[in-house]
Amino acid sequence: MQQQQQAVRSQASRRPNVLILLLLALLVAAALTVYSFRDTIFAYWDAPPVDTPVEEPPVDTPVAPVEEPPGSDPVDAEPPAAEEPPTVEEPPAVEKPPAAENPAADPPAAVRQLANGDDLLALVTKETSLGKYEPTDLVTIPAEMGLYDTRYQLRAEAYQQLRAMWEEARDAGVDFYVTSAYRSYATQKRLFNNYAAKHGEKAANKFSARPGQSEHQLGTTVDLAVPGHVLASSFGGTTPGRWLAENAYRYGFIMSYPEGSTGITGYIYEPWHFRYIGVEHAAACRESGLILCQYLEQQPQQWQ
Ligand code: DAL
Ligand code: ZN
Repeated sequence: MQQQQQAVRSQASRRPNVLILLLLALLVAAALTVYSFRDTIFAYWDAPPVDTPVEEPPVDTPVAPVEEPPGSDPVDAEPPAAEEPPTVEEPPAVEKPPAAENPAADPPAAVRQLANGDDLLALVTKETSLGKYEPTDLVTIPAEMGLYDTRYQLRAEAYQQLRAMWEEARDAGVDFYVTSAYRSYATQKRLFNNYAAKHGEKAANKFSARPGQSEHQLGTTVDLAVPGHVLASSFGGTTPGRWLAENAYRYGFIMSYPEGSTGITGYIYEPWHFRYIGVEHAAACRESGLILCQYLEQQPQQWQ
């Protein structure tokens, strides 16, 4: 009897130990489960809000650009089409399946042909064409002004003004660099066709001009950037981007595609793209509050 009582007591004293072991086993099992599904569980907290715009890297940005011999037309990258869609009618582009040999780049025949690309005030839009115009007074921009090894060119007067602006900014502690300048018809055609093959013509034409329709073909237009903000809308928020938006007109340069102008220009916001139109006209354009193409529409044009 006494032995029986002892056995019952020792069984009862073992019960809490069993419970502790069970609890420990449960804790270990729970910890293992959390560890196994850690990616799924913590991704929830790491994920950005649904409406946070994800900044896409510039498409084909030449991080390590292909060297081109001086004097050739360096092909430059343009930004992704993932920005605000234009609200204007696109040129009546014939939709064709994108293909490398597809001459998608030729602008629609209905556009007006400009007679004189040398005119600093030539109206270059999706409704006009420079044809195969080539400037005759191109100079090469010094390497120190470029972000990459690629050498770019501008017409002499536009270059002199760019240089003056670049030096004054540098003296004020503001540095920016050239990432594209003159592009021939052929270069623009190659560039546009590449984008059209990748994104489709319509999307490509929101950030890249068809050949004959790019201000870069004038030899008076330059793309400016700082490392980390190349062909990106974020450039507009950098100190150099803000400096340029405020001061470029004093040197004769105007931002052709400012924020909110997509409905007028048909192109996305390009805070890096500046066209030289002469100091007096740049001041008048700024004073008018008009977008560059609206201002140029009011200037006499030479049509073929
Ligand atoms: N990115 C501008 C629209 C051009 O290609 O000229
Ligand atoms: Zn540009």
